[in-house]
Amino acid sequence: MTDIDRPLVEEHSLDRDCTTLSRHVLQQLQSFNAEAQDLSALMNRIALAAKIISRRLSRAGLVEGALGFTGGMNVQGESVKKMDAYANDVFISVFKQSGLVCRLASEEMEKPYYIPENCPIGRYTLIYDPIDGSSNVDINLNIGSIFSIRKQEGDDIDGNASDLLQNGHKQIAAGYVLYGPSTMLVYSIGTGVHSFTLDPSLGEFILSNENIKIPDHGPIYSMNEGNFWQWEESIRDYIRYVHRHEGYTARYSGALVGDFHRILSQGGVFIYPGTVKKPEGKLRLLYESAPLAFLMEQAGGRASTGTQDLLEVVPEALHTRTPLIIGSKEDVALVESFIQDRARESKEALISRS
Ligand code: AHG
Ligand code: MN
Ligand code: MN
Repeated sequence: MTDIDRPLVEEHSLDRDCTTLSRHVLQQLQSFNAEAQDLSALMNRIALAAKIISRRLSRAGLVEGALGFTGGMNVQGESVKKMDAYANDVFISVFKQSGLVCRLASEEMEKPYYIPENCPIGRYTLIYDPIDGSSNVDINLNIGSIFSIRKQEGDDIDGNASDLLQNGHKQIAAGYVLYGPSTMLVYSIGTGVHSFTLDPSLGEFILSNENIKIPDHGPIYSMNEGNFWQWEESIRDYIRYVHRHEGYTARYSGALVGDFHRILSQGGVFIYPGTVKKPEGKLRLLYESAPLAFLMEQAGGRASTGTQDLLEVVPEALHTRTPLIIGSKEDVALVESFIQDRARESKEALISRS
């Protein structure tokens, strides 16, 4: 073959080992014991939900009833998109058949959804954000799904899932699906962070990056600067700092999963602080911030509320919100330093007044 006949881009897909998600989970746990089998099956079910959602999204503009609003509101008072409701139901129906999950809790449901037929054996709870970045759905921009798995503790006889109100260290697995130019699934079961790309021709998620590590510092800061006048002074101090120093660049997509994925790959920090209207910020702990914090720590980064490690936060309720500062170690520390400086100043001012 002459150079002119040679394809410009070599086809490398067959060079790969083609590690599938379920095989990867078993490899990571180096075991075939019951728990390893369960985790592998759980991840397989999440992958199935992701494929079903991805299939609908890829043709959403052509399918009757895929885009737009349902007309209803969720428990957070946000208008529900048809894709939010669809994806919420996909996870339920996929896990109904699993036998592994007794309860599912999501952004779109005020209370957990129980699957009574699974409850005597289903030892796990799936907590999820079925569509993250809903405002991007109708304009065909990147969106995601976020998931977290916890072991059920106790019998939950009262049916209010109070065992879920524990800190983020209780997660045994977490991850997200990114519906972008390709569909990716990124997960951790506490043995590093690994990403998979959906090969639509095979219908399988194939390993694309193993043991992802975030740089200790990166150039990106990701936050909604439209909220500048609603932030506390310490956050404004930080933004003034990045505006006045070389080497920073802003990226904000309106979908946490997309912004997080960029920062995980390139380094930097995503911030959703408290605002005047929402003093605890917008993001929900159990199915947005805590799963991503679990991944970030596994990748060598950090997640903080500004005053506390995010994985230490115990939620008061299923839909509790917390401020979120997440990303490269040094960048998270820089944001925290502005918060600490302002806190010290107000303490000193109080003391000098008394
Ligand atoms: P969701 O679509 O699940 O409600 O989440 C939207 C979240 C998150 O994805 C994003 O980072 C943030 O809302 C954007 O909020 P603003 O529009 O206030 O910037
Ligand atoms: Mn979300
Ligand atoms: Mn959502």
